[in-house]
Amino acid sequence: MLADPAAAQGARATEWLRLIEPAERARYDRYRVEGARQEYLTGRALVRTGLSRHADVDPADWRFEANRYGRPSVVAEQARLVPGLVFNLSHTRGLVALAVGRDCDVGVDVEWIDRQSRLSDLCTRYFAADETAYVRAAEGDELTERFFAFWTLGEAYIKARGMGLALPLDGFAYDITGDRPTIRFEPTCPDDPARWRFLRRAIGDRHRLALAVSSPEALLRVRFAWSTPGDVGAGADDASGLAAPEDALLVRGGGLAAS
Ligand SMILES: CC(C)(COP(=O)(O)OP(=O)(O)OC[C@H]1O[C@@H](n2cnc3c(N)ncnc32)[C@H](O)[C@@H]1OP(=O)(O)O)[C@@H](O)C(=O)NCCC(=O)NCCS
Repeated sequence: MLADPAAAQGARATEWLRLIEPAERARYDRYRVEGARQEYLTGRALVRTGLSRHADVDPADWRFEANRYGRPSVVAEQARLVPGLVFNLSHTRGLVALAVGRDCDVGVDVEWIDRQSRLSDLCTRYFAADETAYVRAAEGDELTERFFAFWTLGEAYIKARGMGLALPLDGFAYDITGDRPTIRFEPTCPDDPARWRFLRRAIGDRHRLALAVSSPEALLRVRFAWSTPGDVGAGADDASGLAAPEDALLVRGGGLAAS
């Protein structure tokens, strides 16, 4: 689900603040930059209302805990109500994304495209050697696209694993030259490429999204929807005026197809 954090103002912000716990409220109050406050609050509201679509739990009643790397999940007592339910959240300037799944590992990342020339210099710090070479082989908008493809895909994988930067950034490398991204792992990051499926999407002109999913299912349907948390009919509407990217199928061992 995708949400525009600019919605976190006025009466709606007041309504969403009623959903959150004191610790979340304290964190909200610590943000000094209005945009960051809105992104944070929108994320909290999106997670709570999004999870309540899958369980008979009031949005304000969800309780969360974090693993040692900071990854939040629903507390065990509530997780028993919806076995296998997983989620991951990402926020950036002007966009919040929530991925919800069942019986899988899922990670999502969204980034606001910053078209600045230093992107080429940043590659060596964050990307594998062949990823860096692929970015630098391009220029202008194409260089930017490639940079944010690797960045969002890298983050989506790291977040799906739930281990943050404890995973070595040079322990995996993507190939984005084909119809769908594929991944390769180095001995420093042992994992099986065959268990992962990846999706890239442009969300309007300014944002890029990547999703990483590991699931035993042969076929996964990925549904995108804009949402204003708490609104009746949320999920089916196009809240931001931007078209939602089309839904997609992720097929094990096959290509990515629009449904
Ligand atoms: C913290 C991290 C998980 C994501 O950070 P980020 O990209 O700045 O932020 P995002 O908005 O995409 O995600 C933040 C959300 O992820 C979730 N999250 C936090 N820790 C997480 C973890 N270990 N695993 C999965 N999700 C996590 C939280 O819900 C958090 O939102 P919240 O703080 O409002 O609850 C981590 O990957 C990081 O610090 N990255 C730094 C950037 C970097 O070097 N990237 C390399 C690119 S190849």
